Amino acid sequence: MFVVDLDLTNRDTIAAARFALAPHRRSGAPCLFLLRDMSPRAQIQANALGAKLLLPVDTPHPVLLDRVGMLLGRIDPGSPAAAVQQRFIAASAGTADLLDAAGAGRALPVAAIGQSIEALNRAADGGNLGAWLDLVWQHDDATYQHCLLVSGLAAAFAQRLGFSEADRAQVAGAALLHDIGKARVPLDILRKEGPLDPGQQAVMRRHPEIGYELLVAQGGFTPLTLAAVLSHHELLDGSGYPHGIGGDQLPDLVRMITICDIYGALIERRPYKPAMAPEDAFGILVGMGDKLDMDLVRAFGEVVLGAATAGLGTLSDPRARKPVRAA
Ligand SMILES: [Fe+2]
Ligand SMILES: [Fe+2]
Repeated sequence: MFVVDLDLTNRDTIAAARFALAPHRRSGAPCLFLLRDMSPRAQIQANALGAKLLLPVDTPHPVLLDRVGMLLGRIDPGSPAAAVQQRFIAASAGTADLLDAAGAGRALPVAAIGQSIEALNRAADGGNLGAWLDLVWQHDDATYQHCLLVSGLAAAFAQRLGFSEADRAQVAGAALLHDIGKARVPLDILRKEGPLDPGQQAVMRRHPEIGYELLVAQGGFTPLTLAAVLSHHELLDGSGYPHGIGGDQLPDLVRMITICDIYGALIERRPYKPAMAPEDAFGILVGMGDKLDMDLVRAFGEVVLGAATAGLGTLSDPRARKPVRAA
């Protein structure tokens, strides 16, 4: 374990810390940041450096020791959950590089994206989504939580559908990048607790197009990845945004990301709102009716609720309906 205490207002310090910590965070060492300043900016910097846990520097020693103990003792080494943890830390490090670059206006790091995708899909191989979610909740930053949550759900979904390795990479990558446009949304809107006013909502609703434009400008991303970034808030009945396009223009991969995104937003944990139970969140997906692809929703239920969804319908395998594939 590393305990880091830095001045995160100093750009040289941040650059030096990023360089020094990179090999360690890739090795799986959890990184605890003690912050003198718990401002959103400081927290974002710490997360971008790969922080696993953020605490104020004046945290009482008993609390500090307790939290460190949780970090170190939460999972038995050698257990299947420990393998998931290693994958999670690798995905988290790649995500840190990705969000850091997006926020700073630099080119998105292709190698870091690839590292995260590989970690997501290898974690999904084990079928231990619960262990992945437990780790997601340890991230204090909402953006990281959402990114790793939605991509973890999508990777598990693609694995469950029996996709090829190439299609699984495409699904996980699209999920990882789906909200990349939020990197350009002002922080006061992004981090607002409670409902946005109409003006703020209009700014927030631009994130799919901003993300799409960002990926197109950089180049090298697949048409399906671009479609997922641009259209993950579209709904099959045409009531979504930004363009109100309907199901005939929404490929299966986009439909999958939309389902993972809505479900993820419902079960996310925030200090200001209680987490929704998985069964309740899934019930909301089912209640959305013709807005979502119900064959895929049903298959998704098997991923997130397991056997609990067995009685929800007769079609347990969406591939019986038609070939479902990323491409
Ligand atoms: Fe979004
Ligand atoms: Fe999202």
